[in-house]
Amino acid sequence: MGRPITSVISIRGFDRKGILYVLEQSGKMEQRPHPRLLQGHVLGLMFVEVSTRTRLSFASAMMRLGGQVLDFGDPERSSFKKGEGLSDTIRVMAGYCDVIAIRHPWEGAARLAAEVSGLPVINAGDGANQHPTQTFLDLYTIQKTHGGIDGLTVGFLGDLRYSRTVQSLAGAMSHFDCRQCFISPESLRAPQHVLEELEERGVQHEQFSDLGEVLPQLDILYCTRIQEERFADRLEYEQVKSSYRVDRALLEHCGVKETLRIMHPLPRVDELSEDLDATPYAVYFQQARNGIPVRQALLAMVLGKL
Ligand code: CP
Repeated sequence: MGRPITSVISIRGFDRKGILYVLEQSGKMEQRPHPRLLQGHVLGLMFVEVSTRTRLSFASAMMRLGGQVLDFGDPERSSFKKGEGLSDTIRVMAGYCDVIAIRHPWEGAARLAAEVSGLPVINAGDGANQHPTQTFLDLYTIQKTHGGIDGLTVGFLGDLRYSRTVQSLAGAMSHFDCRQCFISPESLRAPQHVLEELEERGVQHEQFSDLGEVLPQLDILYCTRIQEERFADRLEYEQVKSSYRVDRALLEHCGVKETLRIMHPLPRVDELSEDLDATPYAVYFQQARNGIPVRQALLAMVLGKL
């Protein structure tokens, strides 16, 4: 690696070499425990949007490296309620910890946190924009399930308009020799800037509405939830909320590759049937577990320990 990693705000800060370096370090974290690597360091968790996996796996990753965790807790019980702004809150929190992981509904909140805190900041999801640590664990999962990333055909399914996980992962995979298929209702197509980035990089990509048309060609099906909370118009959500449901019968009907693997950042609602959970296709719970070594590696990197 050349320049040290000081904050992780967007996957756009990483080229192919940088991505592979993070994945390699994640693999080392998984192979060998480092119970004292981050002893004496405090991770500040500031989750202003709900989370289960990201928040808990950051906490677990830090604790498994010997560090401690200071959780901002429920924003409803913070001085936000007295009108304190985000910048002041972050400046104050920066005095109590050594690194901050932030999730916030505003796009750009993590960048703001990095600017005002003077600390390493890791973006744990900012609105519909970026979710870079999810991307690293997604790529880590793909490496493990397929032995590498190049040469794969990936299908992104569902809410491609508002999904920060898809936007981040599509950008990261554009550094690899992959074909990208975007499958969604017309109103939830991937944003133009995502497609333009792929075009600029010469990435083979196509858009579909019919999942069955493309399913047999896929190595990875990356499902997403239709995110009710991102819709300003309730009617628009109702029209698309049940657009897709992936289940065993569909896979059998379409004749998928034996090596197909189904990923999902979770949580799922009804787009992904539980009848897939015990099949070899399902890797989404393994994917969630992979958040530990990946976030361990990223924490260690931003704290200058790798
Ligand atoms: N994948 C993910 O970001 O899950 P949480 O919202 O539960 O953190």
